[in-house]
Amino acid sequence: MKMWSGRFRQPLDSEFERWQRSFDFDRRLLRYELAASATHARALKNAGVLSADELISILQGLEQIGERAASEPSFLDDGEAEDVHHFVEKQLAALIGDAGYKLHSGRSRNEQIATDLRLFVRATIDHLRHDLGELCCTLIDRAERTGDAAMPAYTHLQKAEPVLVAHWLLAYVEMFLRDAGRLADCRKRLNVCPLGSGAVAGATLALDRGFMAETLGFHRPTANSIDATSDRDFALEFANVLSLVSLHLSRWAEETILFSSQEYGFLELPEAYSTGSSAMPQKKNPDLLELVRGKCGRILGNATALMVSVKSLPLAYNKDLQETQEPLFDSAATLLAMLPLVAGWIKSVEFHSERMNQVAQSGFMNAWAAATYLVRRGVPSRLAHERIGKAIQICVERNCELQDLPLHELQSVSPAFSQDFYDSLTLASVLEMHDVPGGTAPARVRQAIDAARKRIESLREEVHAHETHAHA
Ligand code: ARG
Repeated sequence: MKMWSGRFRQPLDSEFERWQRSFDFDRRLLRYELAASATHARALKNAGVLSADELISILQGLEQIGERAASEPSFLDDGEAEDVHHFVEKQLAALIGDAGYKLHSGRSRNEQIATDLRLFVRATIDHLRHDLGELCCTLIDRAERTGDAAMPAYTHLQKAEPVLVAHWLLAYVEMFLRDAGRLADCRKRLNVCPLGSGAVAGATLALDRGFMAETLGFHRPTANSIDATSDRDFALEFANVLSLVSLHLSRWAEETILFSSQEYGFLELPEAYSTGSSAMPQKKNPDLLELVRGKCGRILGNATALMVSVKSLPLAYNKDLQETQEPLFDSAATLLAMLPLVAGWIKSVEFHSERMNQVAQSGFMNAWAAATYLVRRGVPSRLAHERIGKAIQICVERNCELQDLPLHELQSVSPAFSQDFYDSLTLASVLEMHDVPGGTAPARVRQAIDAARKRIESLREEVHAHETHAHA
């Protein structure tokens, strides 16, 4: 039986009927639909609309639907179900008879889809926060294992200053921890329960909304039924956070692709995550990295699609909102599949530490440290900068580094130079010099590793607490 055919004299155009269905994709929400329906059924019983026996058979029916869907995928091949809500009602009536049709008393699919989607986004946030934590943990492990190994850091993609490889890896940890924080913020705002909002004006039966919210693990019921049935801010916010995650991943992928090229030669692509060329026998290509970079496009596209679908929609529910589901599911699935692979790649990659170390010591990467030497001897910074620039000019002409210039020559550039200048130019002292919180001095980086580990620990605890309180 359709959910709405009473006032219609003609059947739907069959092509339109197929085209407007959402069950092909909203079946993804079945477990949330079942949890929300069980909660609604309990509220109906408390409101005196269902008898105790009817409640029991509805709850058993819902459970059976969930079990069958899990064990028998073809159960979901239902050519008649308009959407996941219709599917559940149909199957419930098939299992328990007319009592099944009592479940929809006082509720509307508009509040149901709003609730199911919130539950879906909430569960996905928990999953993603877990995976981001694991990814960060992998980065921190690698950072710890690289010890005091150095590499060049770039600005404008030109050689700038040496840094620890660990410092570079921890930069990505910062990005992903910010993302995990954004997901937590999004979770806080979304965790309110639309059940009891009805179609637009509120439920037509005196349902205990506080009870329903609490049963599903929400903080409280939504405050306004018009907003609750039309709001998709949580989905948009979530999709935009995922855009940032994928954007961070794409920056990592791009930089890593560059570093894997023969010209940089900083790392060896793991064979388990690379492919060859069907034509050129020598090739090993960074496929994982390229796909990570490429998938950023669809995740950004999905966020845009969501925003444009909702833009200018009058209140309250409009069928346009059905279009918010697929981009949402696609972004979630794309990232969930990608994060463990990225962690696997990072575990397997091999750094060419010697090469990185050598490149970290050439191309005047110690020039700022050299200028700082003069500043410490009282030379005004602007002048020191200019003097070192002069010395570099000489080096460029002779194709050598600052430390290769003899002292007398340096002294003709500035009388402030003396023998200890050479000590301040070594890789170790250049690294050491950046001795501020957040800087690359080895002791600071070791502290940063410890601090990052603590943050991962609290992230894990938060995710775990949500898991144990999860109701759907
Ligand atoms: N499949 C619909 C959606 O995803 C469910 C809500 C339908 N509501 C309605 N009034 N037709 O939005």
